[in-house]
Amino acid sequence: MRIPFPKSLKLAQTPTPLEKLEGISIIPEGYRLYLKRDDLTGFGLSGNKIRKLELLACEALKRKADILVTCGGFQSNHARATALLAARLGLKSMLVLFGDEEPEIEGNLFLDKLSGAEVRFIPSREYDRVERIMEEISSELRSKGKNPYVIPEGGSNPLGVWGYIKAAFEMKKQVDKLNLKIDKIVTALSSAGTYCGLFIGAKLCGWETDIIGINVRFLPSYPVQKIYTLLDNTISKYKLKVKSKEKEIKVIEGYVGRGYALNRVEELDFIKAFISQTGVLIDPVYTGKAMYGMVDLMKKGKITKKEKVIFLHTGGGFGLFPVKDKFFQ
Ligand SMILES: Cc1ncc(COP(=O)(O)O)c(C=O)c1O
Repeated sequence: MRIPFPKSLKLAQTPTPLEKLEGISIIPEGYRLYLKRDDLTGFGLSGNKIRKLELLACEALKRKADILVTCGGFQSNHARATALLAARLGLKSMLVLFGDEEPEIEGNLFLDKLSGAEVRFIPSREYDRVERIMEEISSELRSKGKNPYVIPEGGSNPLGVWGYIKAAFEMKKQVDKLNLKIDKIVTALSSAGTYCGLFIGAKLCGWETDIIGINVRFLPSYPVQKIYTLLDNTISKYKLKVKSKEKEIKVIEGYVGRGYALNRVEELDFIKAFISQTGVLIDPVYTGKAMYGMVDLMKKGKITKKEKVIFLHTGGGFGLFPVKDKFFQ
């Protein structure tokens, strides 16, 4: 089958390395774990977001946009990557960020400001209508003669999903070269673009492996619905010959902990131990919680020693800075 890869810019440093993680006590003994280092896709334009933004920015340029509008939490990695990307492409950016406390100009938000982004803050309770808010902002911008391009949360729409369809092909090539049979790919799950891209990409390249999303954000049951809708929309928009059965969508619940972007002491202890044993930065909101969840599944025998696992490291390291005091209380 001819695969209709959409046009894309080339901004991410790819292929990212696939590394074996061994000899560290934080991972239960005998497990065969590989890290796909998408934290290394770039410095500011880093993590999983830039893979999706390469496609979305290409479309924005095609439409002659002069300002990128997007949204997320105060510490959104996606918003930061969008702001830096806009700066790199000579565009403006407008970020609609949600949260409840007075935001500290730290971590990602600090980088948003440095990149020259205009930021509008909204309370969390208004985030349900964020798409509407972005549309209102876009009308306002158009009335001032601007040409905005709206990117949804996390860059997770059918075009953005291609970032991880392509990444699945990249990973398949790497595992084939190493002659590895991978049983599971584990990733943090939020706006679901990463998950859906891996899911579709694995099918398109004939890779039989489970794609496991660890919910770090939502109430149970919502993520499966979100994934299903995004899979469906992507498959139908690009007329892909892929069937998605609901039972193949594997979402793990139980690791949101105290809530989105909030941490339990055991998670912070885990992150500290992981970083001190590997020199690899994982973050408190996404990769730290997902890695904590995956290791817990190993300890409970729900992932077995027979299985070979890839943990997709989706970046997010700047998120460590705003919570630095919590690590040493
Ligand atoms: C560092 C990091 N990892 C994982 C995710 C989750 O990816 P997705 O939104 O595609 O589900 C995000 C999304 O915000 C993120 O910033």
